[in-house]
Amino acid sequence: MKAIVLEGEGKPLRLMDMPAPEPGPGDVLIQLKAAAFNRRDWGLQHGSARQPTILGSDGAGVVSAVGEEVPANWVGREVIINPSLNFGESGRAQGPDFQILGIPRHGTFAEMIAIPQEYVHPKPAHLTIEEAAAVPLATLTGYRALFSRGGLQAGERVLLTGIGGGAALAMLQLATTAGAEVYVTSGSDEKIERAKQMGASGGVNYRGADWVHELQTLAGGGFELIVDSAGGPGFAQLIDLAIPGGRIVMFGATRGNLPELTTRTIYWKQLSILGTTMGTAEEFAAMIRFYEQHRLHPTIDEILPLEEAERGIRKMDHSEQFGKIVVKI
Ligand SMILES: NC(=O)c1ccc[n+]([C@@H]2O[C@H](COP(=O)([O-])OP(=O)(O)OC[C@H]3O[C@@H](n4cnc5c(N)ncnc54)[C@H](OP(=O)(O)O)[C@@H]3O)[C@@H](O)[C@H]2O)c1
Repeated sequence: MKAIVLEGEGKPLRLMDMPAPEPGPGDVLIQLKAAAFNRRDWGLQHGSARQPTILGSDGAGVVSAVGEEVPANWVGREVIINPSLNFGESGRAQGPDFQILGIPRHGTFAEMIAIPQEYVHPKPAHLTIEEAAAVPLATLTGYRALFSRGGLQAGERVLLTGIGGGAALAMLQLATTAGAEVYVTSGSDEKIERAKQMGASGGVNYRGADWVHELQTLAGGGFELIVDSAGGPGFAQLIDLAIPGGRIVMFGATRGNLPELTTRTIYWKQLSILGTTMGTAEEFAAMIRFYEQHRLHPTIDEILPLEEAERGIRKMDHSEQFGKIVVKI
């Protein structure tokens, strides 16, 4: 079968012929129709992949066969994959066997994948197969960050940093739909305008010298909830932007480790700083229900043919994308 393979550190993604998988007991075999990139794929390409592995955590397709113990009526169904594998019993944090689909095990940028049926959900009927492929990882992460960890309530002021990212845009939809007043930051004025068209109440460019003050003026104060996946030097300002008693949820380090923070501000303002990663099977199911109930559609930057996967991932070098980069298989 055709697949997009990561051969080793820094190597361009290659379209290769790989052995087709067989469904084991409890598995379904999916004929994948679309897959989508996450920052993780970009990180893996720049990291330590040792042996040729099929990239990709996000995918959607049609079940073409089932292994033992799986009801035959799964065959022919359009499905979406939960890439949060073995999260474990405790909803508080993932267990020791947790894995994200797509390296070390083969991922979704392929014509076929065999995966335990428990990670497969019927595709929401209102989504195209390409849209369905753009949902899983980013929206699951955003759902847990906003609701389970962040405790978002309708009417709260929420700040989402780096709105051009896949996870940030997913959260913009989830949070505005849940009745929050959402503000954003971005390195691009154009992306801020697009976010406003999608329901953001305002936004500022984090490249501006006075962005913190601008944001406070715009929002009429600080934020009850801030969700950040950039980390790095800008995180110190988020401590200032949170209101007393506010929550800051973080799940990424696009800009690196945190800078020196002012300890007193954190305890004096009684802030909660919360880490989060991916989500449980229950959160994935709840996220899909939320998507169906409100008939949401993910923001897609571009849909490319499988052969052009390397061009797609290069767009992430300078955060050119607005939303998800999808590959049609
Ligand atoms: N722990 C988890 O479970 C989990 C899950 C998903 C993602 N992540 C991590 O979360 C991060 C985002 O993932 P993604 O897939 O959404 O990435 P992405 O689509 O590649 O988006 C990255 C975004 O980072 C923003 N950014 C760059 N510099 C910034 C700065 N100085 N301040 C604020 N934002 C900045 C850019 O936003 P603009 O273009 O608007 O400037 C860019 O679009 C990555 O680090 C990823 O590894 C973690």
